[in-house]
Amino acid sequence: MIHPSYDINADGHLTFAGADTVLLAKKYGTPLYLIDENEIVRRCRIYRSAMKKYFSEESAVYYASKALSIKEIYRIIEKEDVNADVVSLGELCTAISAGYTPSRLCLHGNNKTDEEISAALRYGVGSFVVECTDELYAISSIASEMGKVARVLLRITPNIDCHTLEAISTGKLDSKFGVPIETGQAEDFVKLALSLPSLDLIGYHCHCGSQVFEIEPYLDQLDIMMRFASDMKKKLGYSPKYLNIGGGFGVRYTDEDSVEVNIESNIKLLSEKLSLLCAELSIERPHILMEPGRSIVASAGATIYTVGSVKKIGDFRTYVTVDGGMTDNPRYALYKSRYEAIIANKASLEKDTVCSVAGRCCESGDLIGEDMPLQSAERGDILAITVTGAYNYSMASNYNRVPRPALVVIKDGSDRVAVKRETIEYMLENDV
Ligand code: LLP
Repeated sequence: MIHPSYDINADGHLTFAGADTVLLAKKYGTPLYLIDENEIVRRCRIYRSAMKKYFSEESAVYYASKALSIKEIYRIIEKEDVNADVVSLGELCTAISAGYTPSRLCLHGNNKTDEEISAALRYGVGSFVVECTDELYAISSIASEMGKVARVLLRITPNIDCHTLEAISTGKLDSKFGVPIETGQAEDFVKLALSLPSLDLIGYHCHCGSQVFEIEPYLDQLDIMMRFASDMKKKLGYSPKYLNIGGGFGVRYTDEDSVEVNIESNIKLLSEKLSLLCAELSIERPHILMEPGRSIVASAGATIYTVGSVKKIGDFRTYVTVDGGMTDNPRYALYKSRYEAIIANKASLEKDTVCSVAGRCCESGDLIGEDMPLQSAERGDILAITVTGAYNYSMASNYNRVPRPALVVIKDGSDRVAVKRETIEYMLENDV
């Protein structure tokens, strides 16, 4: 199996986090999201310990909530000394209502509303990543009115092409995110941040993209950012205490994806590069912050469905239709992201067919995948899709008025509902 959470038991059933997925389907119904708590903890620890070891004690992981923002996640990560980035009032309030320490939060997002800025200041979030000058003015003036000081990092676009999907590549010059260096605007951004009241400029932020398997874009980004920092030190006398290098380490979804990213050795390489740059540029070493989302939760998730029908079209295609689809996992429809499928109740059998796994929405594009190797399926089988912990629940919708599935967390063999299955009544509540 592609990640450690999956196995096959003596009944030939797929297990996830040690639990029999066929029994879970019976107990909770389908579709159902499953999350392996121990796997999340394991991934948090890899980041946390490598960063302490190679960067500094004050380096910090900011889990990117957009990958999966539910109360239970904040409870799990806080125990692991992991901070969080939130990009909306919704994510912010989810963290706060889970009892998460507000000063561990960083408010992100490329269009923060006044309401979000004041709520963040009221709750006492630790920092803001600021995307542009308009936002800097807004934060400064709201903080002044409230008699608070906002700790800010400035988002700079390093102009890196990290060869990931266009939709999830964020560090290029022509981007809605951040302020570019080349045009001279980043320098003006720093000057402004240093001059406006009620702001404490604590550093810079950059993020080249998501689902990146190579280390080179990160090394290049570090180079560009440290040279920018050195330039600003010379021109403005300002050195950043923190440098946030974003998230984005890739995750293997299928055997076709590159080899597993070695997080610890990447962090070591980045630290070595940072030391060289600091020596060359005679600049203080900033504490490094990182914002992984996918690489914390993706492999810790699976989704189970019930097969409704199997339709063969001549000799060229077989559609296996399940009781979910793009409403709980829009990633194939959006990005053609590939997954692996397995019939959970026939997991020990050979995958002797090749199928398209289709959802139940009224769109031809409502697919979980095409040309997926699969055991011979029939109505009533339980079909599992692996590596769905990131950007599945968080991107789910009610298209076709389909309720979102429940989410169950499994730890040490015991399972608990973390998010209840939506009901029709819930969906109709706001519809007056
Ligand atoms: N930091 C910033 C500023 C980001 O924009 C993102 C992701 C992250 C951190 C976390 O990146 P990660 O470690 O999760 O790769 N919906 C897409 C992914 C969009 C990513 C957006 N930003 C997908 O399903 O692949």
